[in-house]
Amino acid sequence: MRVLGIETSCDETGVAVYDTALAGAAGLRAQAVYSQIALHAEYGGVVPELASRDHVRKLLPLIRQTLAEAGLTVADIDGVAYTAGPGLVGALLVGAGVARSLAWALDVPALGVHHMEGHLLAPLIEDDPPEPPFVALLVSGGHTQLFAVEAIGRYRLLGETLDDAAGEAFDKTAKLMGLPYPGGPQLAALAAQSDKEPGQPGAYRFPRPMTNRPGLDFSFSGLKTQVLLAWRDSDQSERTRADIARGFEDAVVETLAVKCERALEAAAGEVLVVAGGVGANRRLRARLQAMTAARGGRVCFPRPELCTDNGAMIAFAGALRLAAGQRDDATVRALPRWEMASLPPLAAAGRESGMGNRES
Ligand code: KG4
Ligand code: ZN
Repeated sequence: MRVLGIETSCDETGVAVYDTALAGAAGLRAQAVYSQIALHAEYGGVVPELASRDHVRKLLPLIRQTLAEAGLTVADIDGVAYTAGPGLVGALLVGAGVARSLAWALDVPALGVHHMEGHLLAPLIEDDPPEPPFVALLVSGGHTQLFAVEAIGRYRLLGETLDDAAGEAFDKTAKLMGLPYPGGPQLAALAAQSDKEPGQPGAYRFPRPMTNRPGLDFSFSGLKTQVLLAWRDSDQSERTRADIARGFEDAVVETLAVKCERALEAAAGEVLVVAGGVGANRRLRARLQAMTAARGGRVCFPRPELCTDNGAMIAFAGALRLAAGQRDDATVRALPRWEMASLPPLAAAGRESGMGNRES
């Protein structure tokens, strides 16, 4: 089954074609992402109305480009998957409207996909994919969550952030040190400078929030205040900025690693899956690789470009569910808020309109 995937939940327009007849990475026939970063940069964050309008401009050309790269036409598409939520409602509506109309015109099924399920399943697009049960860490700009994945579609929340998401903490911390939006990758690049002369990687040590008490929840909002105070009291030189960035990155990475190890212990599993934008962070990848290897397990990440928002993860997650017989009715679905634990399991997925796929 060849599924066209469409992602427009925030500031990236993503389109891809996934073919279930070809497993793993080979199934990804083509994918393209158009990032709106330059558009929003001067405002220091995403402006929802501008995001929606840019999706309107970019989505159809991107669909044509992706189909051409796959050597396909719309007539070859057997189903359409789109991000139905969570996200910015205006941005979601653009993708949902186009996807639903296209499916109706082609007389093929359509399915609204949960954005975070897309992220969570992205590591399975790679070769040698992990099979449930496993533990999943979702670390994006809006979410920091640990799930016990009992089966595809059966997600038990183990812990989540009580305030800022990990990506949000990266972005806010970068902003207060004067780095441009989106700060996460910029802050990580700056932290890497600390390893090189004349930086001092160990010069700043920030707390690892909520690691000294039991539980799998996170809290990252206090960390940016610690960084702000350190930055204010410093000489604000380039070298100090790199050292503080490094101290912050180490604190987030270490906190995530401690909780992931705890989650593996709680779930009595040894396979960890990591997804979402912060999963592209090199130091996090290395630290989790070392932690799982020491336990005799493994960690699976998507390739870095499939960590951040993309159409491939939506095409893939949608393809799994469509191939299992799940379909939506003719509704255009856009859910700004939507709990992933309310999704139906893959095996029991209904034939008509996503049972359990309701806004919570
Ligand atoms: O998953 P994503 O593309 O969008 C959401 O669904 O939120 O995640 C974006 C987040 C942003 O906060 C961004 O700063 C962060 O992921 N991010 C990173 C890195 N690359 C992206 N954070 C730390 N290190 C990175 N290399
Ligand atoms: Zn995302």
